[in-house]
Amino acid sequence: MTHDPTPPRVLHLIASPRRGSSSTAIGQAHLDDLRRQHPGAHIETLDLWSLDLPSIDGDLLDAKYAILARRPHEPAQAQAWARVQALVAQFLSFDHYVFSVPMWNLGIPYRLKHYIDVITQPGLTFSWTPERGYEGLVHGRTAVVVYASAFDYTPGSPLRDWDQQKAFMTTWLRYIGIDAVEAIDAGPTRPSEPGAPAAREAAEARARQLAQGPFGVVDRMR
Ligand SMILES: Cc1cc2nc3c(=O)[nH]c(=O)nc-3n(C[C@H](O)[C@H](O)[C@H](O)COP(=O)(O)O)c2cc1C
Repeated sequence: MTHDPTPPRVLHLIASPRRGSSSTAIGQAHLDDLRRQHPGAHIETLDLWSLDLPSIDGDLLDAKYAILARRPHEPAQAQAWARVQALVAQFLSFDHYVFSVPMWNLGIPYRLKHYIDVITQPGLTFSWTPERGYEGLVHGRTAVVVYASAFDYTPGSPLRDWDQQKAFMTTWLRYIGIDAVEAIDAGPTRPSEPGAPAAREAAEARARQLAQGPFGVVDRMR
């Protein structure tokens, strides 16, 4: 057990709607160990499947394009943008993120993509200028991402080049400014895959290992 002078605020983002979700279980195992090590840690869960997300159209899109064009918001745009700002503020109120992510059709579930599309916004989580291009604005944060898939997509596997799950998450996190990222591969999860039991065991061990140390993974990545 460790005494933390400034315990980290940790957000667990759950992208699987399944009760028996492998990615959620591994993410939870990591957080249980983190909590054991750091009883003072503030840990919250965000179930993306029960989160009320605004539809990205109409006034919300106009609000985004107004920002890109450096135009002030009209009242309806400001109202739509306020919902985005609230969700971004909630996201930014944490220091460390644990994403539990199933692979769906080679990529991520649409609910997680919806959340990402809502919070990835100019002036809030990234900026763009002609001189400097895209720059992430989410600095000083860390992330652990648990990847679950029926089959094996890790380097050296025949399916490696088909993966749009880890490829997307890694690039998106970098895009908004989070480059201190650790991955936990929880696949293959399909019970009949020969590597499935060993993969689960290795994922659980890595989840525990990433929770060790003075501040666990959070401190080591800072
Ligand atoms: C809609 C859907 C699409 C899926 N697509 C893939 C896929 O492209 N490749 C794969 O290996 N597994 C695929 N799977 C299997 C899941 O990735 C696998 O069951 C994983 O364990 C799900 O994560 P979870 O247990 O956290 O829900 C898919 C599952 C669903 C429900």
